[in-house]
Amino acid sequence: MKKFTSISDVADLDTLVSSALRYKANPFADKTLGSGKRIGLLFFNPSMRTRLSTQVAAANLGMEALVFNVGQEGWTLEFGEDTIMNGTTVEHVRDAAPILGTYFDFLGIRTFPSLKNREEDYSEQYLNQFIRYAGIPVVSLESATLHPLQSLADIITLTELMPAGRKPKVVLTWAPHVKALPQCVANSFAQWVTAWGKAELVVAHPQGITLDSAFTRGASVTHQQDEALAGADFVYVKNWSSFSDYGKIPDAHPGWMLTPAKLERTNRAKVMHCLPVRRNVELSSAVLDSPASVVTRQAGNRVWAAQAVLAELLKNS
Ligand code: CP
Repeated sequence: MKKFTSISDVADLDTLVSSALRYKANPFADKTLGSGKRIGLLFFNPSMRTRLSTQVAAANLGMEALVFNVGQEGWTLEFGEDTIMNGTTVEHVRDAAPILGTYFDFLGIRTFPSLKNREEDYSEQYLNQFIRYAGIPVVSLESATLHPLQSLADIITLTELMPAGRKPKVVLTWAPHVKALPQCVANSFAQWVTAWGKAELVVAHPQGITLDSAFTRGASVTHQQDEALAGADFVYVKNWSSFSDYGKIPDAHPGWMLTPAKLERTNRAKVMHCLPVRRNVELSSAVLDSPASVVTRQAGNRVWAAQAVLAELLKNS
């Protein structure tokens, strides 16, 4: 593995999941693998889980992780080609990224989409310019369209809780939110579950709050949440804004919040969410605080996902 930005960078998902589960059983199995190596973690947006789980994972491998909250503390970066920089941006990524490439062995980047310009967001301009100019392997800590470390943790969680002897039904359901959120987690989850191939995936969302079909290929898509929930083994709850009416959520759809009554339709489903979650908006507290919720396990698995990916990069560096 030379970079980690999507499922396409993973040669063998089963091997990566097994590696993560080995680290979960024995966190310090490779405690000197990253000795003398450094990863820079650049955040253009806030984070708790991604930032801390990646730092813990690096420490478990003996690697130093340095965090830079670019969005709050750094110079405002310019990403446009041939821009006349007489506005608010101070430094071009073409100048900044190669410097980071001399400070670190690996670079992790978190960016979010604008949700205003679909072509620009889906071109992954920020991430790709770091890949192009840093000259060192790049790990996505969530990009404009995908969140691969989250998805790997999600697959690890599904693997741990798989029913014996059959393919589980996994439902990715849209949930209400107070603001329009990116499509990254939903895109990425659909992409990884279909590539994994060990579950039946159903995506449920209100009419118009679509995802890019490039990511949902291989899943069934429905606008009937109750039908989707029937017999589900796992329910992944997530808000996203529309791909087709880009960045918009035309209606609030409060009836799409997952409640205990809705959960009764499932096959005693485990409930997943990437967090942070808006209680009693996206997911009712009664569900979150019930034994059905596996969100803490899922977030805990972020460490083992990050550790497996960093170990793979270290072995290939
Ligand atoms: N799920 C996730 O990425 O959480 P953070 O935004 O806190 O990193």
